[in-house]
Amino acid sequence: MTNKMWGGRFQSGPGEIMEKINASISFDQRLHAQDIAGSIAHATMLGECGIIPKADVREIVKGLKAIARDIEAGNFTFSTALEDIHMNVESALKDRVGAPAGRLHTARSRNDQVATDFKLYVRDCLDMFDAQLAGLQKVLAEKALKHAADIMPGFTHLQTAQPVTFGHHLLAYVEMLARDRSRFADARKRMNESPLGAAALAGTSFPIDRAMTAKALGFDRPTRNSLDSVADRDFVLEMLAAASICAMHLSRFAEELVIWSTPQFGFIKLSDQFTTGSSIMPQKKNPDAAELIRAKPGRILGAFTSLMIVMKGLPLTYSKDMQEDKEPAFDAIDNLSLAIAAMAGMAADMEPATARMAAAAGSGYSTATDLADWLVRVLAMPFREAHHVTGTLVARAEAAGIGLDQLSLGDMQSVEPRITRDVYSVLTPEASAGSRTSFGGTAPANVRREAKRWLKLLG
Ligand code: ARG
Repeated sequence: MTNKMWGGRFQSGPGEIMEKINASISFDQRLHAQDIAGSIAHATMLGECGIIPKADVREIVKGLKAIARDIEAGNFTFSTALEDIHMNVESALKDRVGAPAGRLHTARSRNDQVATDFKLYVRDCLDMFDAQLAGLQKVLAEKALKHAADIMPGFTHLQTAQPVTFGHHLLAYVEMLARDRSRFADARKRMNESPLGAAALAGTSFPIDRAMTAKALGFDRPTRNSLDSVADRDFVLEMLAAASICAMHLSRFAEELVIWSTPQFGFIKLSDQFTTGSSIMPQKKNPDAAELIRAKPGRILGAFTSLMIVMKGLPLTYSKDMQEDKEPAFDAIDNLSLAIAAMAGMAADMEPATARMAAAAGSGYSTATDLADWLVRVLAMPFREAHHVTGTLVARAEAAGIGLDQLSLGDMQSVEPRITRDVYSVLTPEASAGSRTSFGGTAPANVRREAKRWLKLLG
């Protein structure tokens, strides 16, 4: 059988393997709502511009709405022979309303159609990410407020560096997620131009109104060049690039949850909801959700890489290569959404072991910088010299197997005679964190203020 959409020129239908490699309906059926919305906007515009009879438009719109309901209800059989979502819908429309259906594709091509559908879909996903990320930020900001004064070690090189607060650490992720949201918002703004009406590639001789369809579909304006309109997949790439960075942030947090939940660290307890047991080792509670989130950037950046390689070197305008844009993007979208949801659940449920964190914050000579700063502030010592003196004191304490605050005043004075008893006041982790009141610093007062500011912003 020849293809019923363009059979005129063909003697036979496609071979079996051709049909298999060519069809996209197994995955682009996901675009059904966008495809139908685009068709309704297009048909309505054709009617308004006097290009097709309004009576036909009414039939077309009614038919399309009925098809949308059928698909939603699972009462629609997608056909591989009809290749993709566009032709499945159009063919169903023909079955349903007959002759008027044949007028829908006036002044349109699947090239501008698919670009429009996919843009609408990606735009919806960006809105979904934004809402999900705001939800995760809220969870973190609430926890941050609660733990604004709970001390934990801050790390560089995963070595104990300086005491910070748990709240401050959580707010670091709130900042990262804010940048993710702003990257998605930025991409959304740029992509929000309608390709519909670019037709196959050159525009159309019909007196269409592209501004009308753009407005009906919530776009800011129509795209300005018909060739670019059908050849462009930047909007998918930008979404995937921003999604990759976001996934990387979640992955870093996930890795911290993995580390913190080991018995050796024991900084947090993850809930049963987000952990699994071992079939052989009864004591185990494995942070599987965190590990899977840690792994997600692989496939999300993979989707970006995959589409970049599909697009590079493609001559203008549309080539069938571009049909390969969808599966990896869908996979990336699903997995980022799942990762954000899992992270929000895990973060809400986790219980910090604040005493253990505080104890760890005091070990590893985490207040050595505070001692050096004291030498600078009180004795007016140049910082480099203070660093050297403190290093000597740390070495002594380490040799004796004790903390800095356990060195006697005599020991300290044997290295620097001007040191007084006052120095001990800066050697506790609480004093250390509390003193870091500089803008953006970890002092509990700062953290409380920032957490409240975020919670107000997040509503
Ligand atoms: N299924 C196609 C895609 O996803 C739709 C566009 C087809 N256009 C064409 N000229 N064959 O890219």
